[in-house]
Amino acid sequence: MAVSYSFRNVTKVTTHVLQEMKVKGEKIAMLTAYDFSFARILESTGIDIILVGDSASNVMAGYSSTLPITLNEMIYHASSVVRAVKRALVVVDLPFGTYQGNSKEALNSAIRIMKESGADAVKMEGGKEIIESVDRILSAGIPVMGHLGLTPQSIHKFGTYVVRATTESEAAKLFEDARLLEKSGCFAIVLEKIPAKLGGKVARELKIPLIGIGAGAEVDGQVLVLHDMLGITMEFSPRFLRRYHNLSEEIKGAVDSYISDIKSLNFPNEREQY
Ligand code: KIV
Repeated sequence: MAVSYSFRNVTKVTTHVLQEMKVKGEKIAMLTAYDFSFARILESTGIDIILVGDSASNVMAGYSSTLPITLNEMIYHASSVVRAVKRALVVVDLPFGTYQGNSKEALNSAIRIMKESGADAVKMEGGKEIIESVDRILSAGIPVMGHLGLTPQSIHKFGTYVVRATTESEAAKLFEDARLLEKSGCFAIVLEKIPAKLGGKVARELKIPLIGIGAGAEVDGQVLVLHDMLGITMEFSPRFLRRYHNLSEEIKGAVDSYISDIKSLNFPNEREQY
């Protein structure tokens, strides 16, 4: 099938643009970013969605899960990204503990993200269990992206990062949750680490875009963690991760050269001083 990129020229990617992309069969490209400099590079490429993921907890802060990152820290990352971006849709994860179980608190958290960072939308993990919070946030006019399948904020409940929804009952629950999120008014859903066939089935049944990370090729778009796909983080190698670069080696090479130039009195040279 020919690649059209017919939406490359839109001046702002909105939730409506994403909906149109789904209808026209143009795949959606999404990556994470957590700071101004990387967000500026991503924005210059014409990426459709930038996710300020709570994976910042792992990638930026060095925690072993996404649970510790706070709302204030997410707002800090999100506002740095927003300052670099005009065209891409900026989606921000509501961090663990700021929306589960209390829809009023969920709304306050979402409002703080939108007001203090200037982002375009929020993302929340879960289905039926969080639907009251999703409804309340949506009714305040804040666009919500869902997240089903492997939901890293629930890692302590599941105990492992293995593929999700492999049994019939889990797959049925995922389908039900996806329908519920669509009915509530979510504009898109991330599907993480589920069988490719199931990903395709959900994407075909639902009208809103389904963005996959380890959910196969038949969904409406793909998302990866930027630092993983650039080869900055090397310890994480799931099957779905395609590494487009080996940036950690390149950075090490550059720093090695810098150190050796200093030690050998080769830096700074005549032209590099006043
Ligand atoms: O936090 C994140 O980076 C995410 C992606 C893995 C979808 O939620």
